Amino acid sequence: MKRAVIVGSGSEIAPIKLTNDQMARIMDTSDAWIRERSGVEQRYFASPEVATSDLGTAAARKALERAGIEKEEVDMVVFATMTPDHYFPGCATLLQDKLGLRSVPCFDIRQQCSGFLYGLQLADAQIRAGMAETVLLVGAEVHVGFMPWTGANFDYARGVADVPPTPEEFEWNSRFRHLVVLFGDAGSAVVLKAAEDGARGVVDHELHGAGADYDKLYVPGTGFKHRPYTDPQQFARGDHIPVMDGRFVFKMATTSMVDVARSLLKKHGVAAGDLKLALMHQANKRINEYCAKALGLRDEQVPHNIHKYGNTTAATIPLLWDECARDGRLQPGDLVLLVAFGAGMTWGASLVRA
Ligand code: ACO
Repeated sequence: MKRAVIVGSGSEIAPIKLTNDQMARIMDTSDAWIRERSGVEQRYFASPEVATSDLGTAAARKALERAGIEKEEVDMVVFATMTPDHYFPGCATLLQDKLGLRSVPCFDIRQQCSGFLYGLQLADAQIRAGMAETVLLVGAEVHVGFMPWTGANFDYARGVADVPPTPEEFEWNSRFRHLVVLFGDAGSAVVLKAAEDGARGVVDHELHGAGADYDKLYVPGTGFKHRPYTDPQQFARGDHIPVMDGRFVFKMATTSMVDVARSLLKKHGVAAGDLKLALMHQANKRINEYCAKALGLRDEQVPHNIHKYGNTTAATIPLLWDECARDGRLQPGDLVLLVAFGAGMTWGASLVRA
């Protein structure tokens, strides 16, 4: 049977860096709190003219280049994001056009922080079934659109304007502080290619979804449950900004990620020590440290980059893959575990022979 091999990766980080100290200029937070509770030290945000499909396209271009694959060879696009350029269409066809691909099938995945793993399972299945030979799998996000601050606040935070937030603006921004300090913008992509040789490629996946607690992490407004789906009152209430019960999500994430990783490793008779790397979704460094300990993984098996980029949702795992592939921590043939948890709730793990 054909196997899907990751033959190239690429990333595009948004250009506007914001440190924790800069964030503390416009809301009631501190570098110490953010570092200690989440591991985030800084994040990058997209400039106003840049959308998710742009970051995804730039990342995909680099991934194709590194893979040595021509755009004409791509016969499927899978794009995971929770911050699409438009309500519809999704980002996959926008990327198809921006990259100048043939009119290939274009899928959009809406599984938030688990989006990349859901996309990987889909791409792998298409390749195994002989429906595709070369798949471009992209995860990208521009979260800055749901940040509560005004443009003037943002300019003040990063030191390009002198007008501080009003007390009301400061209070409003602080209302969302537990959430907004976590996120950053980036795009990342991998190219998957069908191979007959069984030595390398995606081994298996285990995915889960359970909606009972969806409202512990969701966007309450701007959805078609409302008539009309968006209105000024929703914005005034801040209903376009995600609601997150951080403690609940933390607990569910740790339990689910450990369970799914154990289950997949057991199915394949893989011990923690057999893995070269475990690439975990970067939502909170403490979540990953807990999971690593529970799974018996050594520090050098569990790379982190949340300190540099924050949580880039669908982009975290390919971004980590790309960094490790480029700095040599990941070599062809290495056995790698990917694990994620996200809104929905959704979670999963994949086992990949790089
Ligand atoms: N700065 C300073 N103080 C803050 C901040 C902040 N940014 N945010 C919250 N606090 C305060 C709270 O108000 C609270 O104060 P109180 O004790 O006076 O009431 C105190 O800090 C503790 O707040 P908690 O929410 O209990 O802090 P916790 O240790 O749980 O950390 C965090 C919060 C970082 C959000 C954590 O719960 C977490 O990471 N949860 C999981 C997030 C996650 O995995 N999300 C899923 C991925 S996202 C996706 O799928 C879209």
